[in-house]
Amino acid sequence: MGPEQVGEWVLRELPRLNRAVLHDHAPPELLVTELGERVLAELPDVTRLSPEEAQRLVVHLGFAGASVARHYQEHTPGGIEHPERAFLPLTAGGDRIPFRAYFAALAEHTGTGHYDRDSYSSLVRWNVGTIRVSLHGEALAELPGIFDDGHIRTYTGTPGEERFFVLVKTGEAIELAVNCVLLPLTVAHADLIGESARRRVRGATVLLAALRRLFLDFASLPAEQTMAAEVFMDVFRQFAAHWTPGDIPPSGALDPEALKRDFLLGIAEPGYDQQARRLFPALLEAERAEIDALMSEPTLPRRLLAEIGSDESALAEADEGDLRRLVAQHPALVDWYRLLAMHARVSGAHLMLSKKFLFKPQRERDRAGMGDRLLISNRAGTTGMTETYLDRLTRARQNHTLARLRPVLIGGNPENAPDQAIDSGQETGPAVVTELAG
Ligand code: HEM
Repeated sequence: MGPEQVGEWVLRELPRLNRAVLHDHAPPELLVTELGERVLAELPDVTRLSPEEAQRLVVHLGFAGASVARHYQEHTPGGIEHPERAFLPLTAGGDRIPFRAYFAALAEHTGTGHYDRDSYSSLVRWNVGTIRVSLHGEALAELPGIFDDGHIRTYTGTPGEERFFVLVKTGEAIELAVNCVLLPLTVAHADLIGESARRRVRGATVLLAALRRLFLDFASLPAEQTMAAEVFMDVFRQFAAHWTPGDIPPSGALDPEALKRDFLLGIAEPGYDQQARRLFPALLEAERAEIDALMSEPTLPRRLLAEIGSDESALAEADEGDLRRLVAQHPALVDWYRLLAMHARVSGAHLMLSKKFLFKPQRERDRAGMGDRLLISNRAGTTGMTETYLDRLTRARQNHTLARLRPVLIGGNPENAPDQAIDSGQETGPAVVTELAG
């Protein structure tokens, strides 16, 4: 079986085997045997693959590895403490290279600095087809996938899983567009209050409003058009098990465009930099470099305040009259305020998703005495973020650099209301369009 047939196996056989194991219709060993004999045994030496073939194989073996890890840990006493033992029976190629060593070599061979296990990048970005984002008909961003077959690989072959991967990648694509629009404003001496900058800031705000809408729509559609919370909790996220103790499982927290936006716009959460750096091993090399660069630069709102001869402590000390005069003198502040307010509202919408699909149903289970899943707790995210921490992040985004302007922007002049005109354009069609190729 060459690398291309592996793709067929992951699309057709793996979901069937996973369903069979989950329904106790087959023992987990069946998956290990089939994977070992039908897939891994015939894999070529990694160096014979092109970087793109290596990327596709990282996606495929990522799904296979996650499946092996999950079933082993659910079926073997002590398995959770020793996840790496799941892979001991598995070797790849004629030279019988241990599965995890082969996977690590493959990850290295992609040239992307990919982690030595499955990741957000492989599961979401590489797996789902290319997504393009346009604003008012202008193409702004393209987030490529590495398959052009129109398929989305999943663990159990359900449309809900496909929809979840598409949701996350669509979100990331919109975030990429936001960052593309804002990044030119980070060059030294960029004018942040002129008409061209204001257009960018307004464009980014409209894009963020579309991201928020995407989140709200996913929450409001019936379960059969999205993913039922029980499926998310009991099926989907249980595949994000450890491959080795302490490694970083795939998570939305590894969405690099969200991290970049936080560092572009600033986030008043102590320790946020270190928290982001802890996730670095699971990111790609280019992502680590871009995020690192943004971390060491002043945020856009701080640069903006510097440009108008102010700073955060001056804003904190200013009275309402001072603030009013400042806004009258620099109307760009209104656009920047709206951008930061929308960024916070996106965070609030995401928080709502996490509560609806995870934290609330788990609280209900706790109240009913049903307990938690043994493998992946549903009381926290896969990288360990708790509901309280996600609440805090949302509050930190609400408490943004220009939050002091709120009283003079809301209430006073109705034209300054932060969300006005953001969702407009509905009669003429949506301002933001996302297209999934294939
Ligand atoms: C039903 C949909 C979703 C649910 C239930 C959900 C749930 C969660 C949970 C539980 C966490 C904590 C993760 C951890 O501990 O590692 C998290 C974090 C995160 N998720 Fe999601 N998520 C959803 C959709 C999305 C989408 C579509 C995106 C990206 C466009 C996204 C981006 C993030 C980010 C950036 C974080 C880090 C926390 C933050 O910055 O606020 N999530 N999510």
